[in-house]
Amino acid sequence: MPGSSRLPVSLRDTFNARKSSPKGQLIALNLDVLRNIIFILFLLRWTRRLYYQLKGRGIIGSVADVYISIRRTLYGVFLRLPGVRTKVQTQVTESIMKLEMKLVPSGPGITRTTRLPAEGWSQEQVMKALNDLEGMEHTRWEDGRVSGAVYHGGDELLKLQTEAFGKFTVSNPIHPDVFPGVRKMEAEVVAMVLSLFGAPDGACGVSTSGGTESILMACLSARQKAYHERGVTEPEMILPETAHTAFRKAGEYFKIKVHLVACKAPHYKVHLPSVSRLINPNTILLVGSAPNFPHGIIDDISGLSKIAHKRKLPLHVDCCLGSFLVPLLAKAGFDAEPFDFRLKGVTSISCDTHKYGFAPKGNSTVLYRSDEYRKYQYFISPDWSGGVYASPSIAGSRPGALIAGCWASLVKQGESGYIDACHKIVGGMKKIESAIREKPELSADLKIIGKPLVSVVAFLSNTLDIYDIADGMSDKGWHLNALQSPPAIHIAVTLPVVQVVDKLIEDLVEVTEGVRERERKRISEGKGAKGAVKGDTAALYGVAGSLPNKSVVVDLAKGFLDTLYKA
Ligand SMILES: *Cc1c(COP(=O)(O)O)cnc(C)c1O
Ligand SMILES: *[C@@H]1O[C@H](CO)[C@@H](O)[C@H](O)[C@H]1NC(C)=O
Ligand SMILES: *[C@@H]1O[C@H](CO)[C@@H](O)[C@H](O)[C@H]1NC(C)=O
Repeated sequence: MPGSSRLPVSLRDTFNARKSSPKGQLIALNLDVLRNIIFILFLLRWTRRLYYQLKGRGIIGSVADVYISIRRTLYGVFLRLPGVRTKVQTQVTESIMKLEMKLVPSGPGITRTTRLPAEGWSQEQVMKALNDLEGMEHTRWEDGRVSGAVYHGGDELLKLQTEAFGKFTVSNPIHPDVFPGVRKMEAEVVAMVLSLFGAPDGACGVSTSGGTESILMACLSARQKAYHERGVTEPEMILPETAHTAFRKAGEYFKIKVHLVACKAPHYKVHLPSVSRLINPNTILLVGSAPNFPHGIIDDISGLSKIAHKRKLPLHVDCCLGSFLVPLLAKAGFDAEPFDFRLKGVTSISCDTHKYGFAPKGNSTVLYRSDEYRKYQYFISPDWSGGVYASPSIAGSRPGALIAGCWASLVKQGESGYIDACHKIVGGMKKIESAIREKPELSADLKIIGKPLVSVVAFLSNTLDIYDIADGMSDKGWHLNALQSPPAIHIAVTLPVVQVVDKLIEDLVEVTEGVRERERKRISEGKGAKGAVKGDTAALYGVAGSLPNKSVVVDLAKGFLDTLYKA
């Protein structure tokens, strides 16, 4: 009996004992058949997995995957060697200490409130403290020095939002009978956003606390739909590698296997044939970005839509960043590509009202082609002792004040306000793009990634360390975003940035020339790359990029999160 030696000893003994009587023989035979069936099922399952792996990633791709995974494991073992481990730990601790010194103010003049004041403070005391907190030294978003982050920041709108908050401070949409106005505003926000995205009859949506929650909900809904309608228990989704990391979060939270598809030069759009190849019976969702965060590139949504429609799969378009810009590109006179519900394969869209919708932070929407998709994100508990409970998304109680702030922003701006903003913002992006493409001081060393159509422009360098340029810009008070694989930086243009685009270009020219000069000197003096003193970005990403196993980066990032909660 081949393989019987694999049975646990106790089981094998019962098995042998039973063989002696005729009845025992029958049982043994049945057990044998059962065992063979299970073995065949097991074999089938793994053959199927292997088949889909090979089909999805190809033989070369699969070998590459195995190679990367072995390198990662071996490097992990190396990191755990006694000598290496202590050294790495010391350096990680040191970096975290440095970070803490930067983020957590300390020294004699600093007061900390780590317990409730025994007696409440006076109104004036609180106001004074709040003013001090607001005035803490920071990167000047007010002067347009930050990429992304603050999308509007205009005084008039800020004041209106604050007033809207004030009127609805106590409200909570979980009680629609108590706060009917909040319910009405929330429904209207979703309807207004739907109308921007070519929504067909029957389209619907919900509002959420931000892009991440919108994306989590879209993934959850796709997973639940596939489970209930197709019995998929090992869900998988296919993402462009540039898709927002919230999809990977959804993968971890909801146990959905994530397949990443390369977005290669020169277009940096998701490679459609690879997407098709990765589809298998476990696939629950395809994803495209309009545009993606790293490079500001809009994937080929028409192509994805065709695949999704043909294979009868949901397709989510992440328009969190594109929000109120992408739907209005054509009206603002810019190049546009189809990306919304008018493409019949698109089944859900996330749109952040708190990005280019200029709503206060903490607001986004997720839209669905029909209730057949939305219903799967609802949570309903009919038999809780606290009563029948139903909530649309992750949160239970929610701030009605934010809904009022969001609604007020949308109706205050109106379509013309958003078209005007689109003009300014996309115009600002194009100004930076053409400077980098056309100014010889920049174009000699910097290269634009793909063909950006919206607000983000990303660039890399084949000749200089792009992170040195990021650090150089930081020294001049700019906060640009560092990107990896490939090393690059991007600028997300916002209304505050529009005001200072010329200054930004001027500084970028100066910084690039400085880095070029340093590089020339370094080479002429024959120093190795290690000779140069590196800034923070260059130090982190320069090292991180070359590591086969990023556990050190994970430790650093964890330290960073811990630091956020140090009083
Ligand atoms: C900002 C962004 C999101 C969501 O981010 P939140 O910070 O959770 O609002 C999702 N996708 C893209 C492309 C984004 O830029
Ligand atoms: C990476 O290294 C860490 C630390 O040595 C280890 O715990 C982890 O398992 C490694 N990761 C992989 C995928 O091998
Ligand atoms: C605004 O934000 C809150 C919480 O962040 C959320 O619960 C609500 O649904 C959002 N409303 C709108 C209209 O986006």
